[in-house]
Amino acid sequence: MEDKTITRYSVPAQLLHWLTAILVLVAFIYGPGGSEARIYSAARDADRQLHETLGVCVLTLVALRILWRAFDKRPEHPPGPRWMTLAASVVQGALYALLLGVPLTAICGAWLEGHSLTLLAGVLVPSPLPASHDLGAVIAEIHTWLGDAILWLAGAHTLAGLGHHYVLKDGVLRSMLPGRDA
Ligand code: HEM
Repeated sequence: MEDKTITRYSVPAQLLHWLTAILVLVAFIYGPGGSEARIYSAARDADRQLHETLGVCVLTLVALRILWRAFDKRPEHPPGPRWMTLAASVVQGALYALLLGVPLTAICGAWLEGHSLTLLAGVLVPSPLPASHDLGAVIAEIHTWLGDAILWLAGAHTLAGLGHHYVLKDGVLRSMLPGRDA
């Protein structure tokens, strides 16, 4: 819930925010591309395992973050035009939807295609779903589009944060950085 007596997010909320941002970026960089045979070839094992493990970590972190957010206090939006508050809420809502949707489409797509999840340290999570290869391939393709979309949206969110700091000179960016509550 919003609380006008605080100016910063709590330390756990900040840690979850920045860790998620870093993991999404590295997962994006290691996104496996190409044909299904190439993606699941032995030569691509290391990159794919890293990508899938980071993606599963993102899903876990976002679930924790949503739970934490339900009980945590967060600073109020700064005063400003209504469109700006609305735009911030829409982008943040879409980011949460993508943080859930990107890993979930990947996991469903891979399982429906008949692949286990292949995580680091040789951990395999076999599919609990009946195979439906063509549907899985479509969902895996949607995953790659959503994976690109989350980076664009996170880019817009970053620019907005920098705009708050350098143009509007309010405390929005600082509220997500370590420091004492003013
Ligand atoms: C937030 C987390 C994730 C992000 C940002 C992300 C991003 C991406 C991107 C951008 C691609 C396309 C790469 C390219 O075309 O060069 C991709 C492909 C892929 N990702 Fe993810 N991903 C995430 C989580 C996951 C998870 C949890 C899995 C586990 C199954 C996974 C498995 C795959 C697979 C198998 C492909 C290849 C899909 C295909 O073309 O059939 N990803 N990912």
